[in-house]
Amino acid sequence: MTRKKIALIGAGNIGGELAMLAARRELGDVVLLDIPDKEGVAKGKALDIMQAGALDGFDANVLGTSDYADIDGADVVIVTAGIPRKPGMSRDDLLTINLGIMRSVAASVKEHAAGALVIVISNPLDAMVYEMKKITGFPRARVLGMAGALDSARFQCFIAEAIGVSVKAVNTLVLGGHGDTMVPCLSYCTVNGIPVTQLLDAATLDAIVERTRKGGGEIVGLMGTSAYFAPAAGAISMAESFLKAQRRLIACAAYLEGEYGYSDLYMGVPIIIGGDGLEKVVEVELSSDEKTALQSSVDAVRELIEAGSKL
Ligand SMILES: NC(=O)c1ccc[n+]([C@@H]2O[C@H](COP(=O)([O-])OP(=O)(O)OC[C@H]3O[C@@H](n4cnc5c(N)ncnc54)[C@H](O)[C@@H]3O)[C@@H](O)[C@H]2O)c1
Repeated sequence: MTRKKIALIGAGNIGGELAMLAARRELGDVVLLDIPDKEGVAKGKALDIMQAGALDGFDANVLGTSDYADIDGADVVIVTAGIPRKPGMSRDDLLTINLGIMRSVAASVKEHAAGALVIVISNPLDAMVYEMKKITGFPRARVLGMAGALDSARFQCFIAEAIGVSVKAVNTLVLGGHGDTMVPCLSYCTVNGIPVTQLLDAATLDAIVERTRKGGGEIVGLMGTSAYFAPAAGAISMAESFLKAQRRLIACAAYLEGEYGYSDLYMGVPIIIGGDGLEKVVEVELSSDEKTALQSSVDAVRELIEAGSKL
């Protein structure tokens, strides 16, 4: 038996944490790839993680490289290549630079990992994952964007903190694009089955919804760069559900073909990820406020995709 192979394109903050999580959970062998100028960083992080494995006792090879031949035959490719936000920037400000990077990465992924499940993390997420699908021509089942897992986790943390319960008791769902128009759904937020609206007042909930929407910016403001622990954990949960055919239901950016009344765009929706990748887009009922908010989010995503198509 051979191990699964997980290729990480981009060996920066999220790439390094992805490599550590994938190795520590023994999901497979890891290839950490960056541009030739940053090959030393990729190789250094790979060695560091291998040495942590000696201490922690996990079996996984981690290879740092700038050569796409090393990702040949990967089962999963996770893409973080690109630049992150600095304070005062929106995700959309990254479009021009990151689109150019995504186009070259997508062409290489198509050439070297044609059978892989691809998970895009780079921002602006909905436009980047759209470009990945367009250039690779892979089926929608195998091109996903990571955002909903992270945004739902942020929502979950804030709710747990406000109530004073374990984060494990809280279930949340965030739909829509990965920007300030995202739609944290109060109607699907429960604490061990109890609707959150019975546990927190409306003003507190409104403040939590707003904080969730701006959750990424809050961290950029504090650290001067984007979050990386939780984004990496979000993508690893998606990769693990695929590699172990777990069929977990996770909010992800998925290519819509009529679901929720929308087509030809990527948007955050609950999906089931199994051994075939995206196995089902789960359609849930939304309140009229949520539908209106989702439409605004769709408009923002379409605007971004259109801006990208002109570049
Ligand atoms: N989807 C989300 O929820 C989410 C959350 C946080 C951050 N992000 C985004 O993820 C991306 C990565 O964030 P980070 O903090 O790891 O940034 P980082 O700057 O630490 O790492 C990015 C890496 O990509 C590399 N890179 C650039 N061009 C490349 C190319 N052509 N091929 C391979 N590698 C290339 C850079 O050299 C760098 O090492 C950013 O765009 C950020 O905005 C997304």
